[in-house]
Amino acid sequence: MSKTELAENPLLAGLGPRRAPEPCALVIFGASGDLCHRKIFPALYALAYRRLLPERFAVVGTARSDWTNDEFRDRMEHAVREFGRDDFKQEVWDWLAQATHYLSMDFAEESGEDRLAALLNQLDDERGTRGNRVYYLAVPPAAMPIIVRELGKRRKTEGWVRLIIEKPFGHDLASARELTQLIGRHFTEEEVFRIDHYLGKETVQNMLALRFANGIFEPIWNRQFIDHVQITVAETLGIESRARYYEQAGAIRDIFQNHMLQLVALTAMEPPIDFTADSVRNEKVKVLKAIHTPGPKHIVRGQYGGGYVEGKEVPGYREEEGVAPGSMTETYVGAKLFVDNWRWADTPFYVRTGKRLARRETTIAIQFQRAPHPPFEDAATEELRPNLLLVHVQPDEGVSLAIGAKVPGQGMRIRTVHMDFMYGGTFRTDLPEAYERLILDAMLGDQTLFTRSDEVEEQWALVDAIVASWARDRPAFPNYPAGTWGPVAADELMRRDGREWLRH
Ligand code: BG6
Repeated sequence: MSKTELAENPLLAGLGPRRAPEPCALVIFGASGDLCHRKIFPALYALAYRRLLPERFAVVGTARSDWTNDEFRDRMEHAVREFGRDDFKQEVWDWLAQATHYLSMDFAEESGEDRLAALLNQLDDERGTRGNRVYYLAVPPAAMPIIVRELGKRRKTEGWVRLIIEKPFGHDLASARELTQLIGRHFTEEEVFRIDHYLGKETVQNMLALRFANGIFEPIWNRQFIDHVQITVAETLGIESRARYYEQAGAIRDIFQNHMLQLVALTAMEPPIDFTADSVRNEKVKVLKAIHTPGPKHIVRGQYGGGYVEGKEVPGYREEEGVAPGSMTETYVGAKLFVDNWRWADTPFYVRTGKRLARRETTIAIQFQRAPHPPFEDAATEELRPNLLLVHVQPDEGVSLAIGAKVPGQGMRIRTVHMDFMYGGTFRTDLPEAYERLILDAMLGDQTLFTRSDEVEEQWALVDAIVASWARDRPAFPNYPAGTWGPVAADELMRRDGREWLRH
C-alpha cells in the first residue's frame, strides 16, 4: 500500500499513515494468560484487519498449558470474537490464524528454548521472517529473569531483537534495577520496550498534541495561571481474579507507580525539542525527578468495604476471593504532589486512583486561576466557576473548556458553560486500543510511547518512599464503601486547601 492509500483508507484512521514493519516473528510468553486473550490477540486482529502487520509475519504463543496449534488458534479466535473492536471477518482471521503457532513449554526446562529456536528457524524459512524477533513477555515478574537469560544466551547474529516487557517492571526500586541490569547484560536499552499501556491511549497522546501543537496553551501552562491540576483514574472494577498479584501490589504499585505518574509527567513536562523517543523521555524523567515525596498529611490511602456499584451489590475487598481477611492492601490512593521546578513550584497536583469507585473515569483537569478583577457585582458571578480545561482520557474521550458566559436576558448574570470537543463526533471513528499502537510501535522500533529505565526507577523511588512512610501506621480499613468516591480523608485533603475534587 502506498502512503496516500494508507492515508485515505478510512479503516486506518487513527493509526496511519505509517511505515510498515519489517518481516518478523512475534513470540508471546504467557500466551495462556488473560492479557493475551483480552488485549494482545484482539490487537493483532485489529492490526491484521487494517493490513498493518508485515506480510511476512508469524506469531508463536508459548505457555505451560498443553495445547496444540489448533486448540490455541480456536481459543484466540474466541478471544478475538469476544474482545475485538471490529466485526469478525473470516478472511482476516484465516490470515492471522495460519501465521499463528503454539508451543507448550516451560522455560525453566533447558530444552524449552531449543524447541522454540527450532520452530522460529523453521518459520524464517517458511514465512520469510528473516531472523527478526519481537519477544513479548506477558508473564509475572518472577518468571521474567529466566526468560531474559535464556533468550539472551541464545541470541543470534542475524536479524534484530526487541523485548516487550509487560508491567509491573519489578516490585520496588531494587528489584527494578536488578531486572534492568539483567536485561542490560543481554540487550541494549534500544531493544527494550517497557509497557505502560496508558501511553498507548489516543487521548493520553492527545495531551502532547494539545499542549505542543497549539500556541494558546503553552504561555499559560504554568504556576502563574494555573491554580492546580487534578488527575483522576477511577475504576468501578474490583480486583477480578487477581488477588494474588493485587495483595502484593495495591493501588500504589498497580496504578500510581506507572499510569498516574506518567499522566503527571505528560501534563507537567517541558516542550521536547522534537518528537523522538529520547527527547520526549528526557523531559518526562525531569518531571519525575522533580516530584518530591508527599508528607503524611498529603497522602491518603483507602480500602473498599462492601457496597453498591452501578446498582449491583458487591463485596468488600477483604471478602474477595484470595484476599486475607485482615488485609492492609490499599485499593485507593489520593495524594497532593508538587513538581519542584520553575514552571510548577507551589502548584499542587492532586491525584487519586481507586477500585470500586462510583464511576469509571480517567481525567486530567487543569484549573486556572480566577479572573483577577471581574468588574461585575458579586451576585452576577455567583454561578461562575474558574476556567477549567478538562481532558477526558476515558470514557467519552474528548476535551472540554469551561468558560464564563452571559446568561441571555436583562441585566448581567454570568454562568459557566462548556466548549466541548468529542473524539467520537469529530473524527467519526472509534479509537484504536492502546495495545494496537504499542505492538505496532515495538515492531517498528519506535520507543517514544514506552518507559525508559530511568523513568521506571524514578517512579519506584517515589513509591518506595511513600510505602516506607506507611509502614508505621495501620489505617482503619475498610474506609470507603464500594460505589463511592473514596475515603472521607481524601475530601479533607482538598478541603484543607479550600478546594474540592471535581464531580463531573
Ligand atoms: C492495569 C491495572 O495496568 O490497568 C489494572 O493492572 C487496571 O488493575 C487497568 O484495571 C486499567 O486500565 P484501563 O485501560 O482499563 O484504564
